[in-house]
Amino acid sequence: MFTKTQLTQYTTLYRSGKPFKTGAVIVDLESNDFQQNDTIPYFQIEEENNKINFIYKMSKEDVVYGLGETLGALNKRGKIYRFYNTDDPEHTPEKMSLYGSHPFMILDGKNTFGLFIDYPSEIIFDIGFTDKDILKITVPSKDFDLYIFDSDEKLSIIKEYFNLTGKPYIPPKWAFGFQQSRWSYFSEEEVRNVAKKFRETGIPCDVIYTDIDYMDSYKVFTINKDKFPNYEGMVKDLKEMGIKVIPIIDPGVKIEKDYSMYEEGKEKGFFCVDENGNDFVAAVWPGPTHFPNFLNSEVRRWWGKKYKLFTDMGIKGFWNDMNEPSIFYTPKGLDNLIELLKSLEKNKENAGIEVFLARETLLKIANNREDYKSFYHKLDDGSLINHDMVHNLYGFNMTKATADELKELCPNERYLLLSRSSYPGLHRMASIWMGDNKSWWEHMIVNIRMLQSLNMMGFFYTGADVGGFGADSSAELVIRWMELGAFTPFYRNHSALNTRPQEPWQFDEESLNIMRDIVRLRYAFLPYTYSEYMNSVKESVPFVKPLSFVFEGDRVKDIEDQYMYGESLMVAPVYEQNKKGRYLHLPEVKWLNWTASKYEERNMKVYEPGDYYIEADLNEIPLFIKENSLILLSEPMNYVGEKEITELTVIGLVSDHAVYNYYDDDGTTYNFTKGEFGNLIIDITKADNDFKIDVKSYDPVNILKIKKIHFEIYDSDGSVIKKDMIIG
Ligand code: GLC
Repeated sequence: MFTKTQLTQYTTLYRSGKPFKTGAVIVDLESNDFQQNDTIPYFQIEEENNKINFIYKMSKEDVVYGLGETLGALNKRGKIYRFYNTDDPEHTPEKMSLYGSHPFMILDGKNTFGLFIDYPSEIIFDIGFTDKDILKITVPSKDFDLYIFDSDEKLSIIKEYFNLTGKPYIPPKWAFGFQQSRWSYFSEEEVRNVAKKFRETGIPCDVIYTDIDYMDSYKVFTINKDKFPNYEGMVKDLKEMGIKVIPIIDPGVKIEKDYSMYEEGKEKGFFCVDENGNDFVAAVWPGPTHFPNFLNSEVRRWWGKKYKLFTDMGIKGFWNDMNEPSIFYTPKGLDNLIELLKSLEKNKENAGIEVFLARETLLKIANNREDYKSFYHKLDDGSLINHDMVHNLYGFNMTKATADELKELCPNERYLLLSRSSYPGLHRMASIWMGDNKSWWEHMIVNIRMLQSLNMMGFFYTGADVGGFGADSSAELVIRWMELGAFTPFYRNHSALNTRPQEPWQFDEESLNIMRDIVRLRYAFLPYTYSEYMNSVKESVPFVKPLSFVFEGDRVKDIEDQYMYGESLMVAPVYEQNKKGRYLHLPEVKWLNWTASKYEERNMKVYEPGDYYIEADLNEIPLFIKENSLILLSEPMNYVGEKEITELTVIGLVSDHAVYNYYDDDGTTYNFTKGEFGNLIIDITKADNDFKIDVKSYDPVNILKIKKIHFEIYDSDGSVIKKDMIIG
């Protein structure tokens, strides 16, 4: 039933039938030698009608990692996950699908191996839900590629996965600054005021998003001239302030005579079609729309070129949304609903259970699988494929259209590109945020876990809507979330229409002051964050890692609410209401604790390995630097690149020897691929009651402007030696 080909020492591809070429994999598979093969290691195979089940008997100690954007614990055991991209804004615990499909997992235990199924429609992972010891993966097709990664090391499995699907995307350096958004900045004036407010309050900020209200009647690639009379001028003025504007882009093209996107798309046959060959109709924000057929390369080029409207204004960041694609209703769905309401009306006097059931019908009108089965894509070879068969690739291809053309529109310029929907491989050209969460405490832990799982999939540059998108937030929740967000690569406060505004100044003076300090702390960490990000991509090691990827033993396997942020720093956010601290575990080595609030105030303390309760007031976040490793800080600024970084502060607990490889580049181009970057190798050795410090630099094109380094090096007994060093 399968053919098999060995791709590397660790990676084997098992092919069933004739898989659709999804674009997830960057390796040329076809030149490989495939051999007949009937078994798959580890799994028992069951064929059931047109489905294939892969069954694995789990041992008690097995832990399952991965699956990217899914709910539930970091250890994926005990739940069912269904990969079929969906726009579901209710991220409640029982949900099985979200916006992206990421069928890559690592099983770590009695056997250790990784698995990736490259198949672009529904796949079910039942990981010990139906039967607590059974992992059952169901692919309802005979045409797919299955990869097995055979290594005992979780990090080598991830490396193999990146070799296969590509390395993570690298945004510009300013993408590591703070970002503000809200669905309902209704006018240019409002956006300008938000920018002004950041500068007045002294809260650093690099990006402001314009959500759907900047468009004319929600028509993609248009601007509402009444509300945003001078969008371009706004972009320029904000740029002067160091703030970049990022517009949202939705795929549905409004059906409206004389609207150029509609007229062009219709004339050129660029839209998805229904079973009769007519352009398929589904309603989203603008009302009835057509969906561009992104699975076709000509359509992708057409679409991608439309971003010129914005790149001509100097915009270098985009937010591709609604690309599952989200369907509010189809005309047929709406007709059914109207029929239902009419029948209720007839029976109005006695309606009982019918009204209750009508609620269900109402919910089913959106994102209905039957609707996804009712339209088609014309592929490059002219053949038609039913959308349902390739459903999970829609957002991937919309984003590919953007990424490919941005390379043409802005050659050698890095861009910030977010997509809501995703599939493996999207991580090499863009990234995702975690979608429409809520201002619930429960969603902070979801954020923490998903951050770790998404990093395993190569979505290094990710984060959630800080403060929560739906529902009203409290000052306490937003503060705690701003603390967590300060230690996620993508740091954006975003909220929904009709919810309580949650920009840092929307609460009280004290909360504002706390949030200013947190954001400044984030900017102080910038040299470390950027350097670690770039080193992680280079080394193909997740930027954010669970503790169990770094330390041994059963105890760390249970830790899901602390994580490594880069190689040196462990973050233990407070994510529960009214808490003034938290319990945490410090594995294996000594740790230098900084329960941080203000960047300038550092009360550091050395901890032995063990379990602790650490106090952390509302303005504080517990951070821990690993023994024999270093972090780097610089003076915070209003936005990334406002000032040259000429001084660094290096902090660490060195009981023996620590080396830090500080990396920097121009932050905006791809010249680093040609060797245009700078490194400082900071080497610190413990010597009697002192530290020997050695700094070497590699800086062929004069990237580094560091003139002075302040060292704050702690010894195991908590004593500190402070020294300054002049560089160059
Ligand atoms: C979707 C997005 C959300 C955005 C809203 C309006 O719900 O996920 O972030 O604000 O649409 O565009």
